[in-house]
Amino acid sequence: MSVAIAIDGPAGAGKSTIARLAAKELGFIYVDTGALYRAIGLAASRKGYTADDKEAVIGMLSTIKVELAFNEKQEQIVLLDGEDVSGLIRTPEISMMASAVSAIPEVRAFLLDLQRNMAHTENVIMDGRDIGTVVLPDAKVKIFLSASPECRARRRYDELVEKGMDVKYEDILSDVVARDYADSHRDIAPLKPADNAIIVDTSGEDLETSVNKLLTVMREQL
Ligand code: DC
Repeated sequence: MSVAIAIDGPAGAGKSTIARLAAKELGFIYVDTGALYRAIGLAASRKGYTADDKEAVIGMLSTIKVELAFNEKQEQIVLLDGEDVSGLIRTPEISMMASAVSAIPEVRAFLLDLQRNMAHTENVIMDGRDIGTVVLPDAKVKIFLSASPECRARRRYDELVEKGMDVKYEDILSDVVARDYADSHRDIAPLKPADNAIIVDTSGEDLETSVNKLLTVMREQL
C-alpha cells in the first residue's frame, strides 16, 4: 500500500520548496499539481484565449495531452503534448490563467484521475489546493500550509528576480491577493483546509525551520 501526504495552501506559502525537500528526506515522490493547471493555462494562452473563454477552454481539453514525468534527478517535469513546458509555466501571466482555468469544473475533472493514479503506485507528497479535501481525501497526513500575503509575495518576488525576471513587488502582492480570493471563493473545490488537516503557518520563518517543522508533523502522523 502506498502512502500519501497532502499539502494544501495558498500561492507562495512555500509549499513546493518545503514539500520537495521533505519528500527527499522521507524518500517520497513530490508531485506539484499546480503545474498541471499551469500547463492548461499555457495551452489556453497559446491559443489566444482569455480567462473568460470558458467554453473554448473546455473544448480544448480533448485536443491536448498533459502529463507529469520525472527527469534523471527525480525532479518533476510537466509535458504539454510531449513538450517540456516546466519553465514556461512560471510567469505571472500563466499564474493568473492557471487560476482562471482551475475554476472550471471540466478542467478539474480532466486532471483528477491523473493526480489520483500517481498516488496509487508511489509514496507521494502531493501539493495543491484541494488534495486533502478532494483528490486524496484518505491521505495519511494532511497539512494546510500558510503564511501572510506579504510574506508570500516577498518569497515569490525573490524567486522570480533570481530567475532574472523583471517584476515589481507591488504587482506580485496584488496578484497573490487576487489569486487567494479567486482560489478560495470558487464554487468547485475551493481552497480550504480539510477537516482533519494540521494547519502550519510559516510566516517569518526561514526554509530550514519550516521544513523541520513539517517533517516533525509528518513523522508524528505517519
Ligand atoms: O500552486 P500553483 O501556484 O502553481 O497553482 C497554480 C494555480 O492552479 C492556482 O491559482 C490554483 C490552481 N490549483 C488548483 O486549483 N488546484 C490544485 N490542486 C493546484 C493548483
